[in-house]
Amino acid sequence: MDKLVIRGGRRISGSITASGSKNTSLPIIAATLLTGQGTFTLHHIPDLKDILTFTQLLHHLGVETSYSGNTLKVSSRNVESLQAPYELVKKMRASIYVLGPLLARFGHARVSLPGGCAFGPRPIDLHLLAMEKLGATITIETGFIDATAPDGKLHGAHIDFPISSVGATGNAVMAAVLAEGRTTISNAAAEPEIETLCKFLIAMGATIKGTGTTELEIEGTDSLNAVEFHNIFDRIEAGTLLAAAAITGGDITINGVEPEQLKAILKKFVQAGCSVETTVNSVTLKSNGKLLPTDVTAKPYPAFPTDMQAQWIALMTQAEGTSNITDKVYHERFNHIPELNRLGAHIEIRKNQAIVHGPQRLSGTKVMSTDLRASASLVLAGLVAAGTTEVLRVYHLDRGYEKIEVKLNSLGADISREKYNEF
Ligand code: UD1
Repeated sequence: MDKLVIRGGRRISGSITASGSKNTSLPIIAATLLTGQGTFTLHHIPDLKDILTFTQLLHHLGVETSYSGNTLKVSSRNVESLQAPYELVKKMRASIYVLGPLLARFGHARVSLPGGCAFGPRPIDLHLLAMEKLGATITIETGFIDATAPDGKLHGAHIDFPISSVGATGNAVMAAVLAEGRTTISNAAAEPEIETLCKFLIAMGATIKGTGTTELEIEGTDSLNAVEFHNIFDRIEAGTLLAAAAITGGDITINGVEPEQLKAILKKFVQAGCSVETTVNSVTLKSNGKLLPTDVTAKPYPAFPTDMQAQWIALMTQAEGTSNITDKVYHERFNHIPELNRLGAHIEIRKNQAIVHGPQRLSGTKVMSTDLRASASLVLAGLVAAGTTEVLRVYHLDRGYEKIEVKLNSLGADISREKYNEF
């Protein structure tokens, strides 16, 4: 297995270009299943474990792909299987994204129930609710979701989500674009990832109104085509790199971003005492090393994202005072806290809130990655910890950060990737 060995105490300084968004790539790649017409060319697709896992799932279904230089070509002409097996789904919950497209195009899909939960319960009931509203019959047996459109076609309907869900909205939209008639979705997720999925589907020939809002209206069609598309930047990677500069009293310019999508995050960096400047496609952050305690509540977009919560907690360990970080999306997403405390942080958990008592002098030791963003918070802590921090099980980080140590080293960090035996 790989670990990252971080020699702390170095300032992050310089400029870097943002990678493509992982969480947008996944639904976009799933949406290629909606048509057998032509070959898709998808640019700015990050070179990540999760993307590889997802393309492996597509290969299993009969889809052909080729990947080079962050461009993914996909042809879903010869789909041979409508079944997503446990072996692949268990590696990545986002595999559920194949449910809507397969069901809408072929009238049937079998997707293994995603197992395990890295941070609290992560149900899929809203995905199933959406498919049922569109007319599918769903049974769950022998660990599989079996979904069938009774007359081979889904039918437009009104879907009112009780909770805002990125994944369920994505699945619902992908299914609705091929359904007969009109679908309206209330309380849709308005995250840039879903907005971009909608733009992608529109480019393919879908009719969607309300893109980027919580109310979507979709007019079904049966003619969608493959297109060439440029993926958006990864706002969570960008936020994490900004935090790396902030925590080390450094400065960073990130190119290739849309600052509007970072608004809630940038506001918090300013509150924390950093200076932030933006252009149409870049953001520059400077920190003088003095961080102010700053409360954050993670909620659906446009609020502060839950995917930046762990990194913010790491940052606040260096702020001069106490900060409260609340997660209203995933109430139990605090696996990183015991590990941060092992590095010397003083963080308490009360229900869905972390109380971070800063500033604490962190000192390096071995810490364990437990999930993707938790790992990112440990890397940030390692950048300021005295001595050497070893972040074990770095495969979690590799799921979602493209060449993270290469990027951080180019900005002045001292991180090496080494092999180790866990047992
Ligand atoms: C996506 C992101 C993940 C991010 C999350 C919230 C991807 C691949 N992952 O995950 O990085 O942390 O959005 O921004 O894009 N819920 C239900 N029933 C469901 C589905 C969700 O109750 O069927 C609940 C969840 O438990 C959670 C909330 O809805 O409390 C939001 O989850 P959701 O937006 O669906 O997260 P994902 O799409 O899985």
